[in-house]
Amino acid sequence: MASETLEKLNWRYATKKFDKSQTLSEEKIEILKQAFNLTATSYGLQPIKMISIKDKEVQAQLVPFTMQQPQVADASHVLVLCVEKTISKHYIKEYFSRVAAIRNTPAAILKPFEAFLIDSFSEKETSEIRQWMEKQAYIALGNLLTVCAYEQIDACPIEGFEPEAYDTFLELDKRNLNSVLVLAVGHRAEDDMFATMKKVRKGVDNVVIDY
Ligand SMILES: Cc1cc2nc3c(=O)[nH]c(=O)nc-3n(C[C@H](O)[C@H](O)[C@H](O)COP(=O)(O)O)c2cc1C
Repeated sequence: MASETLEKLNWRYATKKFDKSQTLSEEKIEILKQAFNLTATSYGLQPIKMISIKDKEVQAQLVPFTMQQPQVADASHVLVLCVEKTISKHYIKEYFSRVAAIRNTPAAILKPFEAFLIDSFSEKETSEIRQWMEKQAYIALGNLLTVCAYEQIDACPIEGFEPEAYDTFLELDKRNLNSVLVLAVGHRAEDDMFATMKKVRKGVDNVVIDY
């Protein structure tokens, strides 16, 4: 294949069987943490957090809450993508304080947009804010999957889990978080038969319309 990017994207697949004897280096995990933090989010508000789990006992206990999927037990790390429980006025103000501190932007320039966002979020239903936050978690998942492909980190994105059970087990209430997605990362097992299966995709001509 001509493009190195496409070669890497073809290398990536949803890993079904991890080699449990292998652990990702701290360097690779750090890249994933940084990539998560660099994810683009709507307004830059970052209403998402990622829990990184590498404790094998904890991972094994997640299996029953993950539709019995063994990936969470066998992966090197389990990343749980979470959203904030709420977006308060204080949360939005903190964001603008960060902008002011990092970019040295005068308050007078930031205030109108800050007021607009506080107003706009106060008018939204809780469910609408929740849906908006979940979309940001999915953007982070996509970003992480691409970075995994680029860094030759094997990964399995997982929606098949019980968020409430994860929340209770990981005591996410204490952190004001709700789990939304799971990403198991590590090294593929040599005998994972899914690694060599052909990709099942519609043709590019079918999914892309040149207008
Ligand atoms: C949001 C999302 C949730 C997924 N949930 C699961 C899951 O719970 N278990 C699993 O084995 N694969 C899961 N997958 C993997 C998909 O089945 C897989 O990406 C798709 O079949 C395409 O195959 P490929 O990624 O190997 O190219 C999920 C993928 C996405 C994007």
